[in-house]
Amino acid sequence: MNWFHVSLFFHLIGVGMIFTLLLAGPIIEANFRWENDIRMKQHAAKMLRSVGLLSPFGALVLILSGIGNMVFLHITVGNLFGSAAWLGLKLLVFIVLLAIGMVISPKTARQRAMLLDQMNQINPPEDAGEKMESLNSKQTLFFLANWILVVVIVLLTLFKP
Ligand code: HEM
Repeated sequence: MNWFHVSLFFHLIGVGMIFTLLLAGPIIEANFRWENDIRMKQHAAKMLRSVGLLSPFGALVLILSGIGNMVFLHITVGNLFGSAAWLGLKLLVFIVLLAIGMVISPKTARQRAMLLDQMNQINPPEDAGEKMESLNSKQTLFFLANWILVVVIVLLTLFKP
């Protein structure tokens, strides 16, 4: 065992963290949708947001160990545009994944939390149901996009085209 193995070990831990999120997200989301009681919905939405907090840590572990892997494999930044173009592409896809997971998706989560608060009041907005449907569809799209992007990342790593 050498330092490269240590770096790979942490990289795979990071991969595990990301897959935990990819699986837990839709399961909690399903609970959120099935629940009719607003308070229970709020609880599920809160759980989804807390689980989402794992994503910055997973991302950090992946970035640090990924850089470690690059160092041990002597891959330079210049190589990302040439002999290691697969890794350049992987990083590009990873950045899109980060943008969805840490900026776009949390924004929808906040909008949903605000809407739930309004629905919990005595006079809920008339179009609350429609708004919720639209936010739910956005969330479904994010889950789908996240899965596709991570699968693309794993395939790029495996086949290094
Ligand atoms: C969702 C994000 C990521 C996933 C799912 C992922 C997945 C993987 C997997 C499964 C491996 C194979 C490990 C092995 O060969 O045993 C790997 C290797 C590697 N990853 Fe990542 N990774 C991600 C992000 C990153 C990032 C951000 C970087 C760079 C900063 C990076 C750089 C590397 C490098 C250099 C290797 C070694 C490739 C080789 O063996 O030739 N990865 N990654």
